[in-house]
Amino acid sequence: MEAFTYSYPVKTYFGKGAAPANLPTELAKVGPNVLLAYGGGSIKRNGVYEELTDLLKKAGKTVFNFSGIMSNPTYEKVQEGARLAREQKIDFILAVGGGSVLDCCKIISAQALLEEDIWEYEYAQHQQPGKFLPMGAVVTAFGTGAEMNNGAVITHEAKKSKSPLWGAFYDFAILDPSYTLTMPLGQVISGAFDSLSHCMETYLGFPREVNLSDEINEACQRNIIRNIRKTLQDPQDTQIRSELLWAAAMGENGILKIGKTGDFQCHMLEHQLGAYTNCNHGRGLAVLHPALYRHYLPEAAGQFARLAVNVWGVEPAGKSQEELASAFVDQLTAFIKEIGLPTSFRELGIPEDTDLKAIADTTILTGGCPKKFTREELFQVLLECE
Ligand code: NZQ
Ligand code: ZN
Repeated sequence: MEAFTYSYPVKTYFGKGAAPANLPTELAKVGPNVLLAYGGGSIKRNGVYEELTDLLKKAGKTVFNFSGIMSNPTYEKVQEGARLAREQKIDFILAVGGGSVLDCCKIISAQALLEEDIWEYEYAQHQQPGKFLPMGAVVTAFGTGAEMNNGAVITHEAKKSKSPLWGAFYDFAILDPSYTLTMPLGQVISGAFDSLSHCMETYLGFPREVNLSDEINEACQRNIIRNIRKTLQDPQDTQIRSELLWAAAMGENGILKIGKTGDFQCHMLEHQLGAYTNCNHGRGLAVLHPALYRHYLPEAAGQFARLAVNVWGVEPAGKSQEELASAFVDQLTAFIKEIGLPTSFRELGIPEDTDLKAIADTTILTGGCPKKFTREELFQVLLECE
């Protein structure tokens, strides 16, 4: 195993009623001015907004709404939130939503206290912010596990770049499965597929030999696959929803990453696809994964073969490692189709004139990827997705 230090900063409150049971104690620790950040309004329609504002009022807080955080949050929206946080002397941010709201707030919490422009600070000066407004997360859409880490994915429209920025960890996260029951089924499935992708991306990095982190990871993958299938049978079952909600958090709470350097090449490619098309993250991954993985069949054969047997239940007797590795990619491809996710750019619905060459040329190449991609080969992968 690689050397590691393990400790985790995000206190997690999981279960039905987790907000009324725990928010009062958490709110008592922070100042009076609270930025209540959310997306396009789903929380107003499903009652979550009312429940949380009641709790905030009872705790004596002055609430400043910051709404309209869009999917694939933009750098402009971060700046808008940071300005509001400064103007209103915000003491605490309560982020309520899915990965987009949670990511946007991680960077607001840093930019509000940073004089330099955060994009320049991180990408030109290669610095990481060290001061943050304290924050709590209430997860209403799961999949990304964004509540568990301090990375945010922000779209800088002027630079045509959807890229990671480092921000704050949440001080606490509230995961109430009942808050997620109103998610559109399509978002549940694409979100859960994103969780599966995080597990696979972590698994395929270094070290490549069998290790404890990967064996736990295999269990998470089996769980997600089983519960996606069950969700399609019974979309409103809270037990199934609970499993997927926690599996999403497990993908990003550091446990599967202990002693590992992840792959995440597919994510980097999807993020740039998002920068150019604003596509849904999980659906973009669904199109890209099989095409990309076919390109690393030789390099990742050992890991793919293990996934075929240990996750997808392929019978190993009489099969070579290469045959098992191919069987893994075939199983994954068939599963994506089975659960109704797109298998091509056409099905994903992105414009035909999308500049795939520019996407390949601007994608971050990761050090943990089993294969050293050239720009030309990444472009080839994208062409195979059309
Ligand atoms: O905006 P509202 O009206 O709230 O609607 C949202 C949005 O349209 C809706 N929604 C959320 N909770 C709901 C609900 N609708 C009904 N009932 C509820 N309870 O769901 C839609 C999608 O939300 P969004 O937050 O955009 O989705 P997701 O959680 O998939 O987040 C995607 C973003 O996270 C980034 C992605 O790149 C993308 O920008 N990621 C962040 C990661 C991280 N920080 O670790 C890791 C991921 O790999 C990913 O890159
Ligand atoms: Zn993801």
